[in-house]
Amino acid sequence: MPRSFSKALRPKIAIVILFIIVESLLILTDKPTAVYFPGHYSGQADVTAVNWSRFAYTQYVTNTAYLCNSVMLFETLHRLNSKPDRVMMYPSEFSLDENSAEPESRLLRKARDEYNVKLVPIKVRSRPNGDDTWAESFTKLLAFNQTQYHRVLSLDSDSTILQSLDELFFMPPCPLGLPRAYWLDPDERVQSSQLLLIRPSHFEFGRITTAINNASRTEYDMEIVNTLYKDSALIIPHRPWTILTGEFRGEIHTKYLGNDQEVWNPDEVLGEAKFLHFSDWPVPKPWIKAPQEIIEQEQPRCRFNATSGHKDDCRDRDYWLGFYADFAKRRAAE
Ligand SMILES: *[C@@H]1O[C@H](CO)[C@@H](O)[C@H](O)[C@H]1NC(C)=O
Ligand SMILES: *[C@@H]1O[C@H](CO)[C@@H](O)[C@H](O)[C@H]1NC(C)=O
Ligand SMILES: *[C@@H]1O[C@H](CO)[C@@H](O)[C@H](O)[C@H]1NC(C)=O
Ligand SMILES: *[C@@H]1O[C@H](CO)[C@@H](O)[C@H](O)[C@H]1NC(C)=O
Repeated sequence: MPRSFSKALRPKIAIVILFIIVESLLILTDKPTAVYFPGHYSGQADVTAVNWSRFAYTQYVTNTAYLCNSVMLFETLHRLNSKPDRVMMYPSEFSLDENSAEPESRLLRKARDEYNVKLVPIKVRSRPNGDDTWAESFTKLLAFNQTQYHRVLSLDSDSTILQSLDELFFMPPCPLGLPRAYWLDPDERVQSSQLLLIRPSHFEFGRITTAINNASRTEYDMEIVNTLYKDSALIIPHRPWTILTGEFRGEIHTKYLGNDQEVWNPDEVLGEAKFLHFSDWPVPKPWIKAPQEIIEQEQPRCRFNATSGHKDDCRDRDYWLGFYADFAKRRAAE
């Protein structure tokens, strides 16, 4: 009886052993591979294995001043050896003709030839009678239509990139990632459109198009984004990714620092910050020359220095003046 029982068991044991052998072989031959989700990579993947052509920095350009700013941003990305593609949407009226001496034409060709920028002509959208500051501001939402990419990063061009932002492309998958407008009341949870990490999709582009068509005259891209994504966007921590130049003029830095225990240290803050957005009202944007009295009135004050006993800590002021000087210098070079 025991003998015939074990005989009946033999084929089953053979199957189990065969299974173990096959599994072991599979495990041995299985090379460690990165786990890819659409649009990002996870785990211990080798960064050199990332297909960077799935990602792009995008700029929307509506006029000559902003064209120059965008070219400056691309120059910085080029200098920082940033990996993703670079895409610039520009008004289709601007000519790319090699013989054209127009400044727009020269800048576009420079972006294409020196900074590897892919140029996409678009029809600039604007609202009739829109005021100047915000006219055509919906155009940046056209980045949702760049569906040849898995992820794009749209940056406001009245800014300076201080450090590469390439790692943002590896954030968890989401239709939209963006920072909070940290300088506003935190309870309002207002999101800022200065930096938009977008997963292009026809579905989301359709929702945005519907929202734009239904927007009232006082609603712009920031309102659209806040209406559609307030409760679902991935929040990119403003610190260290974004900071306003105006932060260096303030006395109280609790909102930027995110706590009331840390002491403001401009050296450290500037060492960590990656994207600096010019916002210093009433000081004009950095490509417009500000009257000297406005600068003197608005520039950061020197702070009390406990070591010397004098108000001779002028780091905030020197950095702040440096932001404008650096911008002016790079702009003159384009
Ligand atoms: C990288 O991605 C691009 C765009 O999605 C694709 O066309 C290309 O084939 C990919 N290259 C590799 C090596 O997978
Ligand atoms: C969106 O992209 C498609 C091509 O993928 C293009 O045909 C269409 O005109 C674009 N929509 C807008 C509003 O630019
Ligand atoms: C259009 O806007 C109005 C008023 O802001 C709002 O009540 C309505 O729900 C919106 N419709 C759509 C389709 O978003
Ligand atoms: C504070 O004062 C000391 C002594 O004069 C000086 O060495 C130091 O550089 C000052 N610190 C700053 C931040 O200006």
